[in-house]
Amino acid sequence: MEKTLAIIKPDAVKKRVVGKILTRIEEEGFEVSEMEMKKMTKDEAKGFYIVHKGKPFYESLTDFMSSGKVVILALERENAIRHWRLTMGATDPAVATEGTLRRQYGFSVERNAVHGSDAQETAEWEINYFFKK
Ligand code: CMP
Repeated sequence: MEKTLAIIKPDAVKKRVVGKILTRIEEEGFEVSEMEMKKMTKDEAKGFYIVHKGKPFYESLTDFMSSGKVVILALERENAIRHWRLTMGATDPAVATEGTLRRQYGFSVERNAVHGSDAQETAEWEINYFFKK
């Protein structure tokens, strides 16, 4: 079994689609092994997205991610990382495939409803970032 980190971003929480996204997560066969709702501090968002430090969208992205509550989840299933990325769709909702979460609920590249880890090492690091035992 593989694990991935998912975040329901502030735009999706404000839109009141948390329930719909959680239902989709369960329908896709994921087990929710950790879940927390919280408002990140700016520093916490900056730490989480540290790999993007220096990119032109870093400030705006971390402002947005600390602008309201998010739901942070550790999800478990076979091929969890790839499966969650397919369920989310492309980063830009405008080009995401019909039926993906970003196509359904995203608004822009930044306000794209959900986050997911992109590789095994990243998933481990990201899960540890929020759910360190
Ligand atoms: P996410 O999966 O949370 O990982 C990094 C985020 O940066 C990405 O989703 C986007 O929401 C955001 N972002 C903003 N601008 C860009 C960009 N130009 N290219 C890639 N990601 C971007």
